[in-house]
Amino acid sequence: MGRRKKPIIRDLEITDIAAEGVSIGRHDNYVIFVRGVIPGDIVDVQLTRTSKAYSESRLLEIKEYSKDRIEPFCSHFNRCGGCKWQMLPYEKQLFYKQKQVVDQLTRIGGLDVNSINNIIPASETEFYRNKLEYTFANRRWLEENEPEMDKDSRELEGLGFHVQGMFDRIIDINKCYLQKDTSNEIRNKIREFTKADGYNYYNSRSHEGFMRNIIIRITEFGEIMVVVIFADDNEELRIKLMDYIAEEFPQITSLQYVINKKFNDSIYDQEVVLYKGKDHIFEELDGLKFKINAKSFFQTNTKQTLNLYRKTVEYANIQPDEIIYDLYTGTGTIANYIANKCKKVVGIESVPEAIEDAKVNSELNNITNTSFYAGDMKDILNEDFIKGNGKPDTIILDPPRAGIHENVINAIRFASPHKIVYVSCNPATQARDISMLSDMYDVLDIQPVDTFPHTHHVENIVSLVKRD
Ligand SMILES: C[S@@+](CC[C@H](N)C(=O)[O-])C[C@H]1O[C@@H](n2cnc3c(N)ncnc32)[C@H](O)[C@@H]1O
Repeated sequence: MGRRKKPIIRDLEITDIAAEGVSIGRHDNYVIFVRGVIPGDIVDVQLTRTSKAYSESRLLEIKEYSKDRIEPFCSHFNRCGGCKWQMLPYEKQLFYKQKQVVDQLTRIGGLDVNSINNIIPASETEFYRNKLEYTFANRRWLEENEPEMDKDSRELEGLGFHVQGMFDRIIDINKCYLQKDTSNEIRNKIREFTKADGYNYYNSRSHEGFMRNIIIRITEFGEIMVVVIFADDNEELRIKLMDYIAEEFPQITSLQYVINKKFNDSIYDQEVVLYKGKDHIFEELDGLKFKINAKSFFQTNTKQTLNLYRKTVEYANIQPDEIIYDLYTGTGTIANYIANKCKKVVGIESVPEAIEDAKVNSELNNITNTSFYAGDMKDILNEDFIKGNGKPDTIILDPPRAGIHENVINAIRFASPHKIVYVSCNPATQARDISMLSDMYDVLDIQPVDTFPHTHHVENIVSLVKRD
């Protein structure tokens, strides 16, 4: 028996954008999720995964474009996994991000969001990232107008970003609008040099090839870190390329490399070797210096991070005699940022190297009232820990997208701080977590912040106060 053909829905009007930036249309009240379109578009789609209440779909054709659409500025738009909202004017992006926060907090958290503030827009909507990672691949994505090529052709090699949803296909990026233009120059020159000199690009299926990744970090100070990741140890080729980069770009202040022979791209368990300059760069936030090495986590949009932290501090309303816990502290950025306003800060984070950086950042800024602990939050933050470190007056938390574990909720309840400031990059899990505290805490303020223009991502800060 042949498989039943999935239904096609014609002339569907896209009316809204739901969670994770996926657009929706309604056909006889049945919700259909459609990717790559915006409200006002009229489309034909084929239903894919269907359930009683809704269906995913595959876009067949945009029949009529929304009057809100604008021309995307990037030539790689559509294929590339980044900046997917370029066809939406920035004010509309902000509108849908704000709406996403309201929807999640009310629908999932059951919260009253009358007090929500308008989202803080980004002052720079292009070239706002301080870190990018590019990938080499021996099979790049071929555009429709390109000629057929022999499978061994060097023309097939590419350096750039993954095609949406494809781990082994790379879009050969000529210009990316995410990081300052020096990043484009460095990437393009490395491509030119390695192609001309016959360096093999990596094949992530067969795990063959020499050139794997490049990580570029550029700080507001203008310091530049470049880390080249090779798949193998070929000293001659490595030195030739590293010398070329050093000569061509004397402005690079930290030039390093990694030889990663593993199957996955992560460098966190790999040795990073210094080739030229220092093994770190510095970033500054409101007069505080932060040391960043090749493996350090640092928020990727420095300017908006400042807005995020300033608002977090305002909401925490920190008093000089208070003990503050900074949960999920990363490299201790928030902890160090607030340290001079309170008696003591306790930071907890699962990555031991990040905790080492957090301590270094305290030393660098002559901060002596912080203490940092490495470990899984659900194991570390317990009654003994809280008794040992002192009950916090305020807890600031900035967890990963998955939100917080039930044990952590219970520990927060035990600690029962007067205030909680919850910073999140996922309003859905934030809403769920806050609802689990709503018998003890009231929402005082809500502040969305746009840290990633042209994407659906949004940061959201919620301040909570303990009920008397
Ligand atoms: C969104 S980042 C916040 C970083 C930091 N607040 C900042 O602004 O730079 C979340 C952090 O939580 C850490 N993390 C993830 N899961 C964790 C867990 N189970 N226990 C402790 N920390 C965790 C991650 O390593 C990451 O550094």
